[in-house]
Amino acid sequence: MDVLTISVAAMEAAASWRAEGLVQAFVPTMGALHEGHLSLLRIAASRADRVSVSIFVNPAQFGPGEDLDRYPRSPERDLEMLERAGADLVFMPSAGEIYPEGFCTWIEVEGMTERLCGAFRPGHFRGVATVCSILFGILRPDMAVFGRKDAQQLAVIRRMVRDLRLGVEIVAAPIVREPDGLAMSSRNAYLTGQERAQAPAIHRGLMRAASAAAGGQSVPAAALIGSFIDEVAGQPLLRIQYAELVDPDTMEPMQKLDRPGLLAVAVNAGSTRLIDNILLAPGRGALEVDP
Ligand code: PAJ
Repeated sequence: MDVLTISVAAMEAAASWRAEGLVQAFVPTMGALHEGHLSLLRIAASRADRVSVSIFVNPAQFGPGEDLDRYPRSPERDLEMLERAGADLVFMPSAGEIYPEGFCTWIEVEGMTERLCGAFRPGHFRGVATVCSILFGILRPDMAVFGRKDAQQLAVIRRMVRDLRLGVEIVAAPIVREPDGLAMSSRNAYLTGQERAQAPAIHRGLMRAASAAAGGQSVPAAALIGSFIDEVAGQPLLRIQYAELVDPDTMEPMQKLDRPGLLAVAVNAGSTRLIDNILLAPGRGALEVDP
């Protein structure tokens, strides 16, 4: 496994694979790796000849007052995990390497980035879209794997790749959960014992909404959201930031579930912000894959 910190070196390594006709799958991450990240790596390895991974805590996607400074960092452990999981290349640039002096080009995916997480984290998706396009430009992967845990991010990246004809296939990976249902996240490390004990209500709430979705061919969004709220309201340390039913591709709100929809939620547990979601189809409940 090659660990590279300089863009030109990563660019050359990926270019040599391309010259040999090898297919490259890329997994962008911010490190503090867990089983969710490794599942992306396994999907990448099953589809490609070479797997590249980036570890970069991207300052551009954190707002003022967010957790950039305390974001968990565990580079040595990450590299051990990636080595064991069979990554071929790890790109770990510095902030100055990605945003050199004079950097002034930003990617705005309009509309869909103003809703859900975008409404509470202005500039977040601008930072995500920009860094992903820079990383795609360096590595020029055939495909990149993104987790469904960040469903809005997945939709934004898909739209960007389509609009800018970046020629990278975007592969979606299922959400990996702890045994009690909590979606794995690097930020779960922030939770206190009590918050951690209450957090699985988020997944239970989504599953309750899925049962409601299974019960009809046209289910009002308010009923689905209500099922979620009922479950989470029982946990005093959890505060719902948003719970919305949206179109999975455009993030446009849906008034009723009469076609596949995404129930996307953000919940504050103390000072920790947790996101989760579930794809729903009327008469069926939860969907595992794209409709
Ligand atoms: P990060 O939060 O490190 O996540 C990296 C990738 O892992 C994302 O595609 C995310 O959706 C996926 N992932 C995280 N937890 C997951 C889980 N429990 N199940 C499945 N997939 C999961 O997302 C980012 O970093 C950044 O925004 C990035 C895309 C790297 C750009 O900076």
